[in-house]
Amino acid sequence: MWGGRFSSRPAEIMQAINVSIGVDQRLWAQDLAGSRAHCRMLAKQGVIQQADADAILGGLDAVEAEILDGTFPFREQFEDIHMNVEARLNELIGEPSGRLHTARSRNDQVALDFRLWVRDACDRSVAQLKALQSALLSRAEQHAGDLMPGFTHLQTAQPVTLGHHLMAYVEMFGRDAGRFADARSRMNESPLGAAALAGSPFPIDRHMTAAELGFDRPMANSLDAVSDRDFALESLAAASITAGHLSRLAEEIVVWMTPMFGFATLPDDLTTGSSIMPQKRNPDAAELVRAKTGRIMGSLVALSTVMKGLPLAYSKDMQEDKPPVFEAFDALDLALNAIEIIDRNLYERTCDVRWWATDSAVVDCVAQPDAAKADHAGRRLKVILDAYTVYLDLWICDRAGTIVANGRPDRYPVRGQSAREMAWFRDALATKSGDDFAVVEDEDQRRVADRAETVRDDQDGLANHQLLQGLPLLAPHFFPVPAKP
Ligand code: ARG
Repeated sequence: MWGGRFSSRPAEIMQAINVSIGVDQRLWAQDLAGSRAHCRMLAKQGVIQQADADAILGGLDAVEAEILDGTFPFREQFEDIHMNVEARLNELIGEPSGRLHTARSRNDQVALDFRLWVRDACDRSVAQLKALQSALLSRAEQHAGDLMPGFTHLQTAQPVTLGHHLMAYVEMFGRDAGRFADARSRMNESPLGAAALAGSPFPIDRHMTAAELGFDRPMANSLDAVSDRDFALESLAAASITAGHLSRLAEEIVVWMTPMFGFATLPDDLTTGSSIMPQKRNPDAAELVRAKTGRIMGSLVALSTVMKGLPLAYSKDMQEDKPPVFEAFDALDLALNAIEIIDRNLYERTCDVRWWATDSAVVDCVAQPDAAKADHAGRRLKVILDAYTVYLDLWICDRAGTIVANGRPDRYPVRGQSAREMAWFRDALATKSGDDFAVVEDEDQRRVADRAETVRDDQDGLANHQLLQGLPLLAPHFFPVPAKP
């Protein structure tokens, strides 16, 4: 009979579309924390007996123990984490379990659990971003004096140092951490007590539960409390911007690791290879960090679309809030950890003389030696020309004609292309260049010190990193320029 099928098949499809335990079981710790706070508040307010509260709290401990040793039965028939916990509580302690849900609804319960989860996720992201900043800072400090070409349009432009380049990411990740912290402070209000949508007639104490769960205060409007997910959207927006920054750093690592750039390499255990192309050292991890951005930005679009146009207050649409958020933060978590490890293990060799960029100020000076604006550049040029004869094709010789650096190590393997060689070359210049050199270096040193102060003030836990910003022309003395015609 079709009627029999009609009554059973919709029930199956209803369960299939309705069930969320597979996703929201991740909220178990938050659900238990919320239930404990709610239970204690109900007892204190005399809404339930202390004996019942004790039984409930004991039962919640037993539930937690089962979850921790993997024996808790997560069952689809109970739809979601809230009903699974409550059903199990009833099996464990019997009748008092029913009193836990007094003055509460799954609507404020899920709003609470999810908010607590997202708050933790934001805190974790801030901690990871600070760890990443710290890794980048140490590396930048280590390469404070190592030259590399700065790029625009991915064309070699002006000289910078690797330290200066890396510090750009330290700034980006600092703002990212700030965005997570902002989102956290706005979301840190408790929705508990809003119940289904209009609050509860029981004499509950929302301030007590809010304080116990680490919130600044209860949310002001109960309809808003159960029905907005802007806290999740805001943290996804912060995650998306962070992911964008991570993808740029990852992209640079990918490019730097190509043999054509040869700026960086990674140890074997952080790359993959190919059996038929043994020369390859694939930066898969960096590529995947770059790619995770797709999921993270996609999650922001997904949840924004779910929330758009929903009438107040709760609708079941909102059950679809968790998958994108879990997916985005899982991806971000992996990406942040991976990029930090990649960064700590990169071996850089950005100082290959073939890559030396042109100091445009010095070139201007060559073109217009009398221009007043070229005064400073002129001093720099004089420093260079006093010490060296500079050839167009990137060799540099001292006055005796000995090549001290060159762009063709295959033909003139006088010195390598390493950071160590650059340090040697820098020292050589310093001894030969006289007062002008010292003046410029002093200015740069002061700017370095100023910036290091600010970075230290801004970032707790990142102290003791002496660095390193705003010195784009620290190094022009070392760069070959066209000889005067
Ligand atoms: N699993 C649900 C969710 O995630 C819990 C809230 C259910 N509330 C309701 N009125 N059906 O949104």
